[in-house]
Amino acid sequence: MKGINTQVLWKIMQLLEDEHVESALTDAFEALVSEIGASSGAIWLKNDDTGLINSIVSIGKDNIAGFSVEKDHGIIGEACKAKEAIHISDTSKDERFPGGKDEISGIEISNAFFMPMIYRRETVGCVEIVNMDKDQIPEEDIALIHSFAGIITLFINENGYSYVADSDKKAIMTLRGITKDYPSGMDVTHVLKGVDLDVYENELLVILGESGCGKTTLLNIIGGMDSPTTGEITLDGKDFSRPTEKELVEFRRNYIGFIFQSYNLMPNLTALENVKFISEICKDPVDPAEAIDMVGLSSRANNYPSMMSGGQQQRVSIARAIVKNPRIILADEPTAALDFETGQEVLALIEELITKRHTAVVMVTHNAEIAKMANRVIRVRDGKISSIRVNLWPVHALDLSW
Ligand SMILES: Nc1ncnc2c1ncn2[C@@H]1O[C@H](COP(=O)(O)OP(=O)(O)OP(=O)(O)O)[C@@H](O)[C@H]1O
Ligand SMILES: [Mg+2]
Repeated sequence: MKGINTQVLWKIMQLLEDEHVESALTDAFEALVSEIGASSGAIWLKNDDTGLINSIVSIGKDNIAGFSVEKDHGIIGEACKAKEAIHISDTSKDERFPGGKDEISGIEISNAFFMPMIYRRETVGCVEIVNMDKDQIPEEDIALIHSFAGIITLFINENGYSYVADSDKKAIMTLRGITKDYPSGMDVTHVLKGVDLDVYENELLVILGESGCGKTTLLNIIGGMDSPTTGEITLDGKDFSRPTEKELVEFRRNYIGFIFQSYNLMPNLTALENVKFISEICKDPVDPAEAIDMVGLSSRANNYPSMMSGGQQQRVSIARAIVKNPRIILADEPTAALDFETGQEVLALIEELITKRHTAVVMVTHNAEIAKMANRVIRVRDGKISSIRVNLWPVHALDLSW
């Protein structure tokens, strides 16, 4: 085998030094695809829990990121089991490419190359490169792809990997075609104009958007504090579009915890009493003292809000949300009034709720740095969701800085 183009490899390794895992991987793969002279490529990873193979990064004009296939299905399934590279120099002669097209995305493909990603002797995924500008791939290119696959396999493994296809997540609530109009004088303001959204358990969903775009309105609708003008809602798979007042009260009590920017504590109750008060009206509460302990305030349990700092008061308000043992926690700018360190501690607590209790957290923030810890980030614009981004490598709260 001829030598590898070490300069390209070096460049790729440097790109992987980037702090942000996703962009590092994308940039490095882009460099490889362009070096090989191909039109497009994708990195596929197997998920043994779900039995799916997911395309986690996609490069080039044919965007196939976000596609998933069944484990043993088609050429991708084959390549993700193989121990050796697969090269198809003319797809029109290969039955796995019906009509010379990719079976999943339908894009036209003339040639394709698949390099397995092997970790501890197991094939965990593959690097796919399509539409190269030559039918035969030079050996040094193969060596380069081979090295690339090896490096990113280690890299991905080191960084952990948290991709779960939406179809495998458990939706606590689904919203479809949600609109919200507010009367304003003789007129009507259309705040939400058709929002489709799923709230999944065990996930942090961050909502971004300009002031006045309807973020709080959307949170209030999810939390049953406000009702949509039109649209359908399901709760645990059952229709919840037009609940009775009694059902709504039960829902808010047992499903929802709210964390506001201002803490809204009762001034004449101690920290523990503020939490106990809420626990008494819930079906399946956590022990109030335990909730206070979780937020690290045991020694302050008997303090009144006026004797506590802003961060401590915010932690009481989190304990108050935790004590309900809710399925969904809604947080509207929970760190806006806090200094950096206290804000980070509050976020770390929220992170813990998700990992330990599988709570769904829907958080509104103006801080793009905080959005890095989300599993999904949605942007609201002009009354609709304008984009949804999946973070494959959410950053830990304690690794954020702003
Ligand atoms: N109860 C209400 N009655 C009338 N208009 C309302 C009401 N609540 C909200 N609005 C209007 O709906 C729009 C969206 O408000 P919302 O509070 O949801 O925005 P937001 O995205 O949370 O903004 P911010 O980032 O400033 O908190 C605003 O134009 C607001 O004036
Ligand atoms: Mg708001």
